[in-house]
Amino acid sequence: MAVFNLKDHGGGFFELGFDQPDSKANVFTEEALREFDQMVSGLASRKDIKCLTVTSPKQGIFIAGADINLIKSLDTIDRALEGCSYGQQAIHRFSKLPFEKVAAIGGACLGGGFELALACSKRVASDDRSVKIGLPEVNLGVLPGFGGSVRLPRLVKLSVAMDMILSGKQLDGARALKSGCVDAVLPYQDFNARALAWAKANFGKAPRRPGKTLVDRVMESPVFRPVMFNMARKTVQGKTKGKYPAPFKILDLLAETWGMGVEEALKREARAFSVLAVTQVSKQLIGLFQLAESVKKHNGAAPGTKEKKVERAAVLGAGVMGGGIAWAFANKDIPVRMKDISWDGVLLGWKQAGENFGYSLKKRRMTKNQYLAKMAHVTGALDYSGFGTVDLVVEAVVENMDVKKKVLAETEKHVPSHAVLCSNTSSLSITEMQSVLSRPENFGGLHFFNPVNRMPLVEVIAGEKTSQETVATLFEIAKKMGKTPIVVRDGPGFLVNRLLMPYMNEALFLFEEGVSVERIDRVMLDFGMPMGPIRLVDEVGIDVAAKVAKILNKAFGVRAQASTTSDAILASGRLGKKNGKGFYLYENGKPGGVDMAVEQLVKNRTAKSARLSDAELVQRMIYPMINEAAIALDEGIVSSPGEVDLGMIMGTGFPPFRGGLLRHADSETVHKVAEALDRFAEQGGGDRVRPNASLKAVSHRGGFFRK
Ligand SMILES: NC(=O)c1ccc[n+]([C@@H]2O[C@H](COP(=O)([O-])OP(=O)(O)OC[C@H]3O[C@@H](n4cnc5c(N)ncnc54)[C@H](O)[C@@H]3O)[C@@H](O)[C@H]2O)c1
Repeated sequence: MAVFNLKDHGGGFFELGFDQPDSKANVFTEEALREFDQMVSGLASRKDIKCLTVTSPKQGIFIAGADINLIKSLDTIDRALEGCSYGQQAIHRFSKLPFEKVAAIGGACLGGGFELALACSKRVASDDRSVKIGLPEVNLGVLPGFGGSVRLPRLVKLSVAMDMILSGKQLDGARALKSGCVDAVLPYQDFNARALAWAKANFGKAPRRPGKTLVDRVMESPVFRPVMFNMARKTVQGKTKGKYPAPFKILDLLAETWGMGVEEALKREARAFSVLAVTQVSKQLIGLFQLAESVKKHNGAAPGTKEKKVERAAVLGAGVMGGGIAWAFANKDIPVRMKDISWDGVLLGWKQAGENFGYSLKKRRMTKNQYLAKMAHVTGALDYSGFGTVDLVVEAVVENMDVKKKVLAETEKHVPSHAVLCSNTSSLSITEMQSVLSRPENFGGLHFFNPVNRMPLVEVIAGEKTSQETVATLFEIAKKMGKTPIVVRDGPGFLVNRLLMPYMNEALFLFEEGVSVERIDRVMLDFGMPMGPIRLVDEVGIDVAAKVAKILNKAFGVRAQASTTSDAILASGRLGKKNGKGFYLYENGKPGGVDMAVEQLVKNRTAKSARLSDAELVQRMIYPMINEAAIALDEGIVSSPGEVDLGMIMGTGFPPFRGGLLRHADSETVHKVAEALDRFAEQGGGDRVRPNASLKAVSHRGGFFRK
């Protein structure tokens, strides 16, 4: 079926529509590329065309990029080079067609889509919110291979191009205009018609683009350019810890092709792309992207379930989490009422929301008026006034079952009967909370992570009586708030905290067995975790971590047997970061070095594990998580290994380049994991770390969580 259609608007003005049949999006599939290539050949001889405007009739989409499965399927550098060069050359020949070409960007214009737009003579964008212009390839572990790495630095300032290609950031119409990525922004109503009229009115005229300042010219000069690249390399090294090859390759390519003829630069771009496309890192990042995308296609409930509309919300308890959750509602223009037991509490919530919006204001991502409008969505009270019209209430009061039950039962009397209630509890049973409600089907868990504005995961917890409609409502509102939700069955620690438990616990056991705090944290940072496990204990609070460990120990028995280290440290008055005293020393809330005094606090400390290699230390902390994940899967806490991976990456920062906890298990093989756990059990860990029946079953089935 034809993807492209050519329409004659008279006088030499033509429109080329990109419209993928039976699809909401336009992507460069293999078939679309082939058709594009043939069409370009046909257009080359057309003498009647003066100007060709590329449009898309699809709502909110220009061209979303190249087909990701095509990139995923590339298994050798030669095949990658062949595929990349084919698309790249088709677009290059398009750029050479002997008439003006205008890209009419009415929606998402990403990756290959923007690369086609860059091959046009001019670009116009609509002012619609759906307009996203960028080159996000770096997020998939590759670089723009259809000419984007070559053409963007020739269109805009080098610093802007570098930033866009390295960060994958996406610009709306106004920002794209400011940076020079587009030449005009037009109203979204009848956008394609306006774009065609613009192309006609501006035919033959050179667009006025943002000029380069003296500073830009100095920075791009042969003397300072290497300095600029060195600075960028340092930033990239700091951000990626050297674990992601793509940003380095991008910098090498940009440095090497600067000022070079386009044809030769394109050849180098294709080669650089091909080397990256076959890396394991790229395959894992693509897998992760697809997992995250799959969340967008359902609402977490049984097929056919429809979610309820959420137009007004309320939050109970305006503390650290309540304030963050209120911000997340207001950020999506959902009016939110915060209720606390004291005005101090309410003010704290306001402060929290205000700080988050204030940051956007400071970064100029929002105007003062927008800031004020967002803040106006957040109101507070000490009573239930305003609860009579809400559709959703999130409970975020103190972590105490009796208090939560009382507050929830009371709240239920003040909200409309359709309203959905949920708890942000991190450890208490949703099913038990349902016992005090007269409409338990309207209640579930919505577990945000701290800090709410930065952590992308939300666990949607289904208690025994939670209806599918409630699951769908919570899942959809989490998505609307810009989060990635996963549905988790009610159970101690839900998914993420349950899996973190053995990780943090083993770290504390290793400390007890003579490994230094510094080394424990360093090996896990080297593995790719965003923070070492002992630092994490300090962040969470040594008291909170000890409390959660006890809850999980009670629930799971010997496999969650807790190290006595935290109790010994707690006894010395150390609570972690919050009181400035923990495993680390703190100054004005900022962690300094390790407090060596803690080593003396643990009386039963031995030197048993001090000689373990770095690799063994990593296994000691990571493999018990895999062991626990096998049971969680068997118990149906989540329904697939993909959800475990998504949960661990989005909820704990498990290194994305490893594809997630169970992708990592599969790449090590579960046989190896089970063998090592057996060894750790024999070395003194006993039943705490012994491979469980669920893990052994995976090992016997072939050694992989994914078939
Ligand atoms: N802090 C975290 O890292 C984190 C992460 C995920 C989930 N949680 C969960 O979120 C919930 C809140 O945690 P937090 O860290 O924001 O606590 P917090 O102590 O910062 O805030 C709790 C707020 O609830 C208020 N409150 C107490 N009783 C109330 C009542 N009867 N009615 C209304 N308000 C009341 C308090 O005044 C306080 O402002 C807990 O269930 C916790 O387990 C916390």
